[in-house]
This record gives sequence, structure tokens and C-alpha cells, in this order.
Amino acid sequence: MEGTPVWNSESSLVVESPSASSSSNTAQEKGSLINVDPSSNSVEADQQHTNNEPLQYGGVDLPLPDFSSRLRDVLRFSPDHARMLEPHVPSPTTPYKAMTPKESIRVTLTYAQSLDGAIALAPGMQTALSGPESKAMTHHLRSRHDAILIGVGTMLVDNPSLNCRIEGAGGYGGENLEHQPIPVIIDPQCKWDFGWSKVFELAQKGKGRPPIIVHSAPMPRYRKIPLQKAGGVSMHIPRRSFDDHRISWNDIFARLRLEHDIKSVMVEGGGSIIEELLAPENFWMVDSVIVTIAPTWLGKGAVSAAPKDCVQGVHKVAVAKLKDVKWVPLGDDVVMCAKPDVKVPQK
Ligand SMILES: NC(=O)c1ccc[n+]([C@@H]2O[C@H](COP(=O)([O-])OP(=O)(O)OC[C@H]3O[C@@H](n4cnc5c(N)ncnc54)[C@H](OP(=O)(O)O)[C@@H]3O)[C@@H](O)[C@H]2O)c1
Repeated sequence: MEGTPVWNSESSLVVESPSASSSSNTAQEKGSLINVDPSSNSVEADQQHTNNEPLQYGGVDLPLPDFSSRLRDVLRFSPDHARMLEPHVPSPTTPYKAMTPKESIRVTLTYAQSLDGAIALAPGMQTALSGPESKAMTHHLRSRHDAILIGVGTMLVDNPSLNCRIEGAGGYGGENLEHQPIPVIIDPQCKWDFGWSKVFELAQKGKGRPPIIVHSAPMPRYRKIPLQKAGGVSMHIPRRSFDDHRISWNDIFARLRLEHDIKSVMVEGGGSIIEELLAPENFWMVDSVIVTIAPTWLGKGAVSAAPKDCVQGVHKVAVAKLKDVKWVPLGDDVVMCAKPDVKVPQK
């Protein structure tokens, strides 16, 4: 039985059975069944039909959506949604709250989770949780921060692009590297091979910036040379102590601000990084929390973003709390924007 081709919300071509679709007869009417969701943010759909042959239905050519004026991979984010997020996005008027103005940096913690609080199906497994609208939101947020920060665990598993594909950003219709954030990778033991990454490829193509790698072990020359050649930076920060290999978040943020004038950073994960920043000793450094909740359960064994529990005296208490909470529905997801309910510790 012949079906009716339509573009679904994932921008992929699917064939509906005639009973589920319109019963219109003319080619034009059939063509109008090519339903490109007007809220669709991605034009990756132009890759779905690549052999240049006309798409046919019942022997009649169908008009294809016209993406010719658009750049491949460009995302759009609705201005209405952008307005709703605005109070949670750093702007020149957002007050600094930390230490001396030179050391201060605005930190947005953002990630996507399932209904059972998981951020990935299993350790080491890349898991797409956000729908197309929330994905566009992530790129909108990237355009509004000087840097995006992730842990090496995420880098090794996901090989993310860490650039901004919002229309108008550099490489996506905009000038130079305008609105492209600097990728910052926390890689204490220099495990990441930058030369074989998407970040490297995009930096070469002028569609993303070269990264800053934060490390505590000495960076070997075979890692440092390609990084420096591409314009990247190795930032050595000593570990906290002999028996604690971690680097202090205070040091990370202060060095990014002082040495690279990074005034805002969007922390995107993964699990260990999120857990550390939610811990009471670090949470005060966070200015905004933006969590996308996807309508799915990932099940037991999934990677959670749960910080260590917190005990005061003999009682267990909440680890971290939020205030000024706003819920924004985005497609099938809902996005929670809030501010940490903590006081900045006095020095
Ligand atoms: N749903 C989402 O929004 C989302 C977003 C991002 C990632 N993810 C998922 O999260 C998973 C990865 O999470 P993960 O916990 O394995 O990796 P991760 O948090 O990305 O990176 C963890 C690593 O970063 C280093 N690190 C973290 N804090 C440090 C500190 N204070 N000082 C020094 N080094 C520090 C450590 O490296 P060493 O081991 O070398 O010491 C640690 O093992 C992946 O499955 C990924 O797909 C999900």
C-alpha cells in the first residue's frame, strides 16, 4: 500500500499510511503534506534526501522544503523562549558575587536528565536526551557564554563539538568566531587526544574556538604541540593535595577569569563535574542552574547526577536547594531554570 511521506518532528522522512494522512488528491495538496514543523530548529533535514532526485508520491514529484537559503546544521531558537530564559543567562548587568571582581565569573550549570534523574544510559554511553527545541536552547545558551566547560569523561565518550550552531554565530552565518564560546576541558591527567576530536576539526574550519585544557599532571609534548599549533591553551593547575587529585573549582574559575578574561562559563557535565558543583563547598560559585527534563526513564544502572549526601549532626539534609524557579516547556521537554539558594561564604 502506498503511503504519504511527511516530515516528522525529528526532521526525518516517514511514510504514513493513507488512513492516517490527508486524503487530498492533487500533487500540490500532497506536497502540502510535507509538514516541516515551523518550530523545527534544525535544518539537518536537508541531508535526509541527498541524491538530488525528486521525491515522489504516486508517480508525482513533490515539492521539497526549501532549505537552500539556510546553512547546513544551523539551529534556531524561538525569541519567545529566549525571553523566558533571559533572567537566567549572564548579561553585562548580572552582578558578580564572588571574591574580587577580577576573580569573579558567572557560572551556569546546565544538563539534561531523564525522569529518573539520569544523564546517560550507562557509564561510557552517549545518550541523546534533549528534543530538538531543547537542543537549540543549549546552543542559544552557548552563544551567551564566553566558555563551555566539560569533564574529560564526557569528552572521551561523546566527542562533542562544543561549538555554537545558532544562526548568526561565527561559522553559521555570523562573522569570524562571534558568539563561539571557548571549550574548556577538565582533563587532569591529559587523557584527551585533541588532534582527533571534533573540537579540533571545527577549530580548523573556523566553526569553533580552540580549547583550553585544564590539567594537573604535566602535559606531554605530543599533546601540547598540536594543541598550541591550533591556538589552544594548556592550563596547568596543581591538584588540591598529594592524596586528592582533584583541582579546586575556585582555582579553575579564577584562572579562567584572570588569564583569559572569561566572564561567563556554561558547565555542561558530565556526571562527576555536575556532582562536584552541586556539593555544598562549590555550589555557591554557581549563578544559574538550567536542567532539561526529558520525558523518558533510563532505568537502573544509568549514570545519575547525584551529589554526595549531606549530614548535619546526626540528620541527613538536602545537599543543594534552588530558588526563583521557572519551568519552561520546550517541545516534549520541560526546562527548569533557577538560582542556587546559598550564601556566598565570607572570606
Ligand atoms: N545528559 C547530559 O546533559 C550530559 C552532559 C554531559 C555528559 N553526559 C554524560 O555523562 C557521562 C560522563 O560523565 P563522567 O562523570 O564519566 O565524566 P565527566 O564528569 O565528564 O568527567 C569526569 C572526569 O573529569 C575529571 N574531573 C572532574 N572534576 C575534577 C576536578 N575537580 N579536578 C580534576 N579533575 C576533575 C576527572 O578526570 P580523571 O578521571 O582523569 O581524574 C573525572 O574522571 C557520559 O555518559 C556523558 O554522555 C550527560
